Amino acid sequence: MPQTSDINRQILLESRPVGAPTQANFRMVETPVPTVQAGQMLLRNRWMSLDPYMRGRMSDAKSYADPVPVGGVMTCGTVSEVVSSQLEGYAAGDLVMCFASGWQDYTLSDGSMVFRLDRNMAEPSQALGVLGMPGFTGYMGLTDIGQPKVGETVVVGAATGPVGTVVGQVAKVLGCQVVGVAGGAEKCEYAVKELGFDACIDHKDPALAEKLAAACPKGIDVYFENVGGKVFDAVMPLLNAHARVPLCGLIAQYNATSLPEGPDRLPQLMRLMLSQRIRMQGFIIFDNYGHCYPDFLKTMTPWVAEGRVRVKEDRVEGLENAPDAFIGLLEGKNFGKLVVKIAD
Ligand SMILES: NC(=O)c1ccc[n+]([C@@H]2O[C@H](COP(=O)([O-])OP(=O)(O)OC[C@H]3O[C@@H](n4cnc5c(N)ncnc54)[C@H](OP(=O)(O)O)[C@@H]3O)[C@@H](O)[C@H]2O)c1
Repeated sequence: MPQTSDINRQILLESRPVGAPTQANFRMVETPVPTVQAGQMLLRNRWMSLDPYMRGRMSDAKSYADPVPVGGVMTCGTVSEVVSSQLEGYAAGDLVMCFASGWQDYTLSDGSMVFRLDRNMAEPSQALGVLGMPGFTGYMGLTDIGQPKVGETVVVGAATGPVGTVVGQVAKVLGCQVVGVAGGAEKCEYAVKELGFDACIDHKDPALAEKLAAACPKGIDVYFENVGGKVFDAVMPLLNAHARVPLCGLIAQYNATSLPEGPDRLPQLMRLMLSQRIRMQGFIIFDNYGHCYPDFLKTMTPWVAEGRVRVKEDRVEGLENAPDAFIGLLEGKNFGKLVVKIAD
């Protein structure tokens, strides 16, 4: 059923997943479109973002943000149109990006985490990717924590996603050698041929460690960690003295229900970090860098317009298809920034 003006379709968290999420963890309901009160505006959601962090919100394990309650609407960022407003500064017809939105047709907003967009923006969905939270994450993690220098080797996992594509392309702009790690030949070919990476290694290849070593003959100076697991195992022995590791995400672990098998790698990692004086720093983009977002947009918007940073989106049609698309994201089925088109 398409979006209508009197029904608010919402996708709720039906139950908390154990391991990989399934359709049974989600439920779609139909509710009336909410009424605007003083200090609020009603947003009609046109595009919604699907991102790996949502797996964390489905769990009640300790994290940096509160979980979605069971029975609550799944959270997300949306590109939305203001339907009606009793909030100063916003009027019907404005186009906005709302980071505190939901998997639903309509969102009531008090204006927090809302950014105004240009109504004539050619591709509004880019506000959820390269010009939004993931692009901002790649840019800040790389430049502020990674501190890449001309000629250094930068490695990034999940290389064809919205974070990885920005990390790799910005590192190229800054004069680095860039090696991506991605799932499958098609994604690797895209990273090299379309994004300009120097090499890209398939993490499904049993010879991942050897191939990564061959692609990084001078070792690794910056490893932008998106993945963890066997990708990190392959990276670890290649880290140079004074390497920097922006710790952005660990998607290989998000569905895990227990620690990985095999030897405990922690003593090895701690010894390496000490002897090679490696700096590894975790960050949560808006907690660490929220104040930098306007400056990021000033840099990235022209780079995208000029084609200096290329963009790939994986567009899914229809709110009802969001759960399947999200389940696929955690399996690497998306190719590019995953967005759902809810309505025109
Ligand atoms: N710290 C922050 O503030 C922040 C903000 C945004 C995102 N992040 C993190 O950044 C990372 C990338 O996010 P994104 O939005 O750009 O995601 P994305 O690349 O669009 O999607 C996730 C990708 O991860 C890869 N993947 C999934 N399971 C994997 C596994 N077991 N081993 C290796 N790769 C696997 C898949 O790509 P392949 O097919 O190429 O393997 C999948 O397409 C995630 O870890 C996310 O949580 C952190």
